[in-house]
Amino acid sequence: MNKLLLIDDERPILEMLDLSLTSEGYQVFTAENGNDGMEIFEREKPKLVITDIKMPGVSGLEVLKRIRGSGQEAEVIIITGHGDMDSSIAALQNGASDFITKPIKDEALMVALERAKEKIIIAQKLRDYTENLEQTVQERTEDLRQAQQELLKKERLATIGETVTGLAHYIKNILNGLRGGMYKINSGMNRDKPIILKDGWEMAQRNVVKISELVLDLLSYSKEREPQRKSCHPNEIVLEAVESLQLLADNNAVKLSYSLDSNIRDACLDPRGMHRVLLNLVSNAIDACIYDPDQSKPFEVEVKTRVEVDGRGKNFILFEVIDNGCGMNREVKQKLFNRFFSTKKEQGTGLGLLITHKIIQEHGGEISVDSEEGKGATFRVRLEKEPG
Ligand SMILES: Nc1ncnc2c1ncn2[C@@H]1O[C@H](COP(=O)(O)OP(=O)(O)O)[C@@H](O)[C@H]1O
Ligand SMILES: [Mg+2]
Repeated sequence: MNKLLLIDDERPILEMLDLSLTSEGYQVFTAENGNDGMEIFEREKPKLVITDIKMPGVSGLEVLKRIRGSGQEAEVIIITGHGDMDSSIAALQNGASDFITKPIKDEALMVALERAKEKIIIAQKLRDYTENLEQTVQERTEDLRQAQQELLKKERLATIGETVTGLAHYIKNILNGLRGGMYKINSGMNRDKPIILKDGWEMAQRNVVKISELVLDLLSYSKEREPQRKSCHPNEIVLEAVESLQLLADNNAVKLSYSLDSNIRDACLDPRGMHRVLLNLVSNAIDACIYDPDQSKPFEVEVKTRVEVDGRGKNFILFEVIDNGCGMNREVKQKLFNRFFSTKKEQGTGLGLLITHKIIQEHGGEISVDSEEGKGATFRVRLEKEPG
């Protein structure tokens, strides 16, 4: 703090100031021109600089500008000629701490130096405070991040616990199905009865499909992921999903049909994700027919696609899955997308709509439902169309 750089082209003034400042306890460095002054400034990094404003070559104003541009902090006191208001103003505008006029009076010089030193102390205090503040904020942020991670870990553990309990019955059910299939295969072979063998084989197959569906559902539930978008045709995704559920519909006397908008062009979607969405919605619709207490009506499930343009000219693709099954009351509608919510007891996992919702959200789309108890349900998925 007590290093002081003195720049003046008039040697007598330089010597006089050197003497009086040294006696005040400053470690004084002197230069007779701006260039030498800047060299010393860069080497010694003094916090205090006193410079004459009028000097041949590099002026005091130039020295001031260079110091301000150097990124190093220093208080610069400018010595101006008596009555030279213009230079004084220019110096202050360029960030001089103070100015004193020639002839220099010791007292005025000491006052200016005291003021400059006060400024340095205040600036330092401010810096310390800001640094402290930054560190405190950093520490608190880290604490918070750790607490959040702990919480997430606990939540995940709780979810795993819930999952295991929630799914144990369902898995037990699949295992029973597999066991039954194996038993039939066994007795078909022993008794050389191909019909029983085929029956057993189909039973085993159905349950293997169920378990692989469950694993896929669990995987897409547990992973936080971006949709794997690629160019594909929305109608084709519907066709594939309908095809893989056709047999289930036929076996349960449900007429499964589709009506696809031929104006739909390729779009940029995650075909696997959207396939899962449609599988979930269509299999729920078929289930709604199977679970309908009124089994006298002819059951129908229809899948529709449509292009929609909103007021701002944005294109949307709409998927609709419509059934005339059991429908939903208010309570079911409210809990629909909850984790493990199912009205199907051991036959359901309550994961289907949760995952459907997640995939649609990841696509930036929306899902909605209209339903009346006893009359059926319509699920609508709306995705913004990104050209494929
Ligand atoms: N189309 C539908 N009609 C009537 N109820 C439905 C329909 N789709 C879903 N639900 C209700 O929502 C619940 C949750 O569905 P989901 O998450 O797919 O789980 P799960 O099919 O394993 O029960 C179902 O158990 C059912 O009560
Ligand atoms: Mg389901």
